[in-house]
Amino acid sequence: MEILKYPDPALNGRAEPLTGDELTEKLKKTFREMFAIIYKAKGIGLAGPQVGIPKRFFVINPTGKPEDEQVCINPEITRKEGTLHEEEGCLSFPGLLGKVVRAAKVEIKYTDASGTEHKKTFEGFGARAVQHEIDHLDGVLFITHLSPAARSALKAKLNELEREFAKSAK
Ligand code: CO
Repeated sequence: MEILKYPDPALNGRAEPLTGDELTEKLKKTFREMFAIIYKAKGIGLAGPQVGIPKRFFVINPTGKPEDEQVCINPEITRKEGTLHEEEGCLSFPGLLGKVVRAAKVEIKYTDASGTEHKKTFEGFGARAVQHEIDHLDGVLFITHLSPAARSALKAKLNELEREFAKSAK
């Protein structure tokens, strides 16, 4: 399994809902592989489109403890509160960090890997990660939320990723 990197156009599409019959053993194995990737890369979350699956799900573990692993399928934000303005990164943008404004607290509705529906509130770090991952399902990348100044500060690194992508696409 490979993480798609900016500016891969597969990161810009709107992902489709995941249906119950698509929740196969094979996909559950994919969730395991995605957790393995985030631990190895010291990330927090990874969305389907980032591994080439244009479906609405992400895996997340804000603490890194095994009991905090969560698979969120067809997530929807049902409540938002407060604001946070903190640095964030993305496994599809290796080496890039930028400050993004997010809600400080979000409540989401989602289905887990066993098909059970949940409502859960995330705060701080976890809230930021959830909003970042849901953005991926809508083809929205975190750099679009940066201020123009923050974005231009990252221009050289973005150019470098664009050059690497062009090379790998050949
Ligand atoms: Co990301």
